[in-house]
Amino acid sequence: MSEELFEQLEFVENPLFESIIDDLLTKQFSIVDNFFTSEEVEVLRHSLLAKYEADRFKKSAIGNRTNEEIDKTIRGDFILWMDEKNANEAELLFFGKINELVNYLNKTCFLGILQKEFHYAVYPKGTFYKRHLDTFQNDDRRKLSLVCYLNEEGWPRENGGELTIYTEKEDLDVLPLPGRVVIFESQILEHEVKVVKASERLSITGWLKTR
Ligand code: OGA
Ligand code: MN
Repeated sequence: MSEELFEQLEFVENPLFESIIDDLLTKQFSIVDNFFTSEEVEVLRHSLLAKYEADRFKKSAIGNRTNEEIDKTIRGDFILWMDEKNANEAELLFFGKINELVNYLNKTCFLGILQKEFHYAVYPKGTFYKRHLDTFQNDDRRKLSLVCYLNEEGWPRENGGELTIYTEKEDLDVLPLPGRVVIFESQILEHEVKVVKASERLSITGWLKTR
């Protein structure tokens, strides 16, 4: 086999990942519908709910993991950090897809993503997360933020809980539709979770980090 052909076999272009990279380069965010199939969302939702019902979530804090402060006037969600080393079947599937994306980004973009951290999140009715940036004074390693929505089919606009992304051009409201993944530049784009008006808003949120 010629060396050239071997190179081509080794690197397979992934159109979905290419479109994410393209979006990030041009507008600093990317919205991908059906990143996870409805079956995948279903198993991930069950995994989240089992842990939520087992009381394993805690009130979210602001700051980072070592510098936490609870302030319900800023955010009202409940979270549980995920542990890839002790992942259940659903979580293995989740990290499988995420790692595929991370490996692709590292091969093609020289982003140098060395670490990642993800947590489940539940926003009960009436909760929100005020406009913010995903970086902290003592941790600027967060490069890309990634949110995956695990709600049941059909999240009507009346349910609220939109992710609003503040870009230079517009304030963009994104509905938390199941299977949808939103990726954005952690240090650049301010965003907000609007008040959840019905039901519970379920998601996995995480960060791809450098250094
Ligand atoms: C966050 C966040 C957005 C969302 O957890 O920092 O901004 O849509 N989440 O859940
Ligand atoms: Mn955020």
